[in-house]
Amino acid sequence: MTNPSPWRATVLTLFPEMFPGPLGVSLAGRGLASGLWELEARDIRASATDRHRSVDDTPAGGGPGMVLRADVLAAAIDAAEIGQDLSKRRPRLLMSPRGRPLTQARVVELAQAPGPLIVCGRFEGVDQRVIDQRGLEEVSIGDYVLSGGEIAAMALIDACVRLLPGVMGKEASGTEESFSEGLLEYPQYTRPQLFEGVPIPQILTSGDHAKVAAWRRAESEALTAARRPDLRTKAPNQTSGQKTPKSTTDG
Ligand code: ADE
Repeated sequence: MTNPSPWRATVLTLFPEMFPGPLGVSLAGRGLASGLWELEARDIRASATDRHRSVDDTPAGGGPGMVLRADVLAAAIDAAEIGQDLSKRRPRLLMSPRGRPLTQARVVELAQAPGPLIVCGRFEGVDQRVIDQRGLEEVSIGDYVLSGGEIAAMALIDACVRLLPGVMGKEASGTEESFSEGLLEYPQYTRPQLFEGVPIPQILTSGDHAKVAAWRRAESEALTAARRPDLRTKAPNQTSGQKTPKSTTDG
């Protein structure tokens, strides 16, 4: 059965040829091919108006690099939204290292909302006026600088798409539930029983489900305390029964 209005990501970029890229393979790629979600990559340069088709210019006040022009980007956003159902306002995102850090809680919201319009920044940045005038939400995927927003957009889209109904099928796991509880995943093991002389922890092959659950919880807590104490302090004091994702990992 085909989905009449699937979740659709519209990406505004100077490099539309980068898409679908990794989103065209594996789980996301299968979902894309079968119409569970849609991807539209639009060239910002198509909205340039001068004869050189320029999209950027030098920063006002001086400094290195080039800045994406407000008029060109605003025209690209407006063109992408022509014919859009106004009652279903799509989130408008700008991938940027100065954005608010992306969290699993925000990913869950974006997967449930109308599919986003995502602007990929390049150069030294984007004219602030278009960010303000079009209400762009700046989103970062981590405290490091990529050469542009495209790979960040792919990461965000992938994280959303795997939550869409039917995309993961029976491969669905409790990973994001554990993340939204503010804990990192416990270690996993599979065959062989002995690898380079190291056995699978005995408790995992004991068949005692309660002991397995307790061991996993303890491992998760120890890992989180060691690697991400910032997450742990926000975790609720309960182990299960809460299906609604909580904003415990939200920044
Ligand atoms: N563009 C460049 N670096 C980025 C980052 N860390 N997150 C989102 N977009 C970016």
